[in-house]
Amino acid sequence: MTTHGVFQSEINLFSDHTLLNTQEVFTQLREAAPVVYLPANDVWAVTRYENIRDALSDPTSFSSKAVAFNPQMNEILSGTSLAADPPEHGPLRAVLTDNLSPRAMRSMKADIYAKAEQLVKDLATHGSFEGMADMAVAFPVSIVLDLIGIQGDLRAKILPWGEAAFNLLGPMNERSQQSMPIAGELFQWTHEQMRGTDLAEGSIGRNIWEAAERGDISHESFGYIVHQILAAGMDTTITTIGNALVLLGQNPDQFELLKQDPSLVAATLTEVLRLRTPAPVFGRLATKDIDIDGTIIPDGAQVALLYGSGNMDPRKYDNPEVFDITRNAVDHLGFGYGIHACAGQGLAKLEIHGLVEAWAKHVESYEIGDVVQRLNNMTRPYESIEIKNIQLAKVNA
Ligand code: HEM
Repeated sequence: MTTHGVFQSEINLFSDHTLLNTQEVFTQLREAAPVVYLPANDVWAVTRYENIRDALSDPTSFSSKAVAFNPQMNEILSGTSLAADPPEHGPLRAVLTDNLSPRAMRSMKADIYAKAEQLVKDLATHGSFEGMADMAVAFPVSIVLDLIGIQGDLRAKILPWGEAAFNLLGPMNERSQQSMPIAGELFQWTHEQMRGTDLAEGSIGRNIWEAAERGDISHESFGYIVHQILAAGMDTTITTIGNALVLLGQNPDQFELLKQDPSLVAATLTEVLRLRTPAPVFGRLATKDIDIDGTIIPDGAQVALLYGSGNMDPRKYDNPEVFDITRNAVDHLGFGYGIHACAGQGLAKLEIHGLVEAWAKHVESYEIGDVVQRLNNMTRPYESIEIKNIQLAKVNA
């Protein structure tokens, strides 16, 4: 429907229906117009690849002060690189990237790959397993717990904390309200209660704490680093591992291709992130009237950048619905783009590359049985994935 030259739709970006049918809903919006106003959310959705990339290249017009879709959360996030604009953004991000730099990541590679291989071998020999709990959740949780050095009872909190943090980036619907006290606990722990001695000696978390004790960084920065690793890094990585298992299982020709040519591991992850974008929507605030292909987004409006829609835009990618690990779409939007592009992608890639490489090495073939989705305002995870009829590769025979 067009009103005064603006295309409108009754779609609610955060309804159960949209969360369960994201690609169909996004296709509807993308093919309707490059910008669609959604009265249900009071949001202006940008739907096409080029327009989304342009928006991400212009953080002055598209401010991250409304990266979440509710004002309380945007307030809580102020002080993080995710919600900051230049010039504040640079130093906040530097504190984070210094600790997640390619150099810091390189020293962890051998350990992460060895753990991935052990887990894959253990699970694959069972012939079947539950893909989410046993692999997609278990692996990044154990890596991140050890990375930060979280010990004791707190280890059980990491999953609910990560899930709640993403729900709360959405509007204040029932999912967000239920997540509020859980995410509040995470914030309290990282910013008020945590002591260096809570963190295992030798862990990266403990090292950063000691840097704060020496005065190299502020204690506030320390809290934000740990908070962002736990909040931004868990549900996204978990979702992506589940998606990789499902896509490779449903496309045995592509799995075979990967097995024949393990150098395709990185391109496989790229294609998984493009086709099943784990966090397919992020918010922005329009800081002035913005003209996108003739539609004016008004100054002060809440914008939704549909990364998951851009990644499926046929104007950008040929046959976008096809899972093709040779496509190598390195310009996908799954990690965002521009100054806010994912600061933890080095860690995410290490974890997922390690698992996918080991999976392709040790498994000859497998099947996907029942899958159940879990609803989250911002991520698109499975709740469970039945992995069955695993045949081991000769390397194990
Ligand atoms: C496959 C896994 C992951 C995906 C798909 C993902 C996706 C994203 C996306 C799309 C953004 C951009 C948000 C925006 O445009 O506003 C982002 C930013 C960010 N991510 Fe990730 N992420 C992943 C893993 C991680 C991990 C493991 C960490 C931490 C260790 C992390 C930390 C961050 C941080 C701190 C930002 C904000 C950067 C900034 O605004 O400067 N992410 N991520």
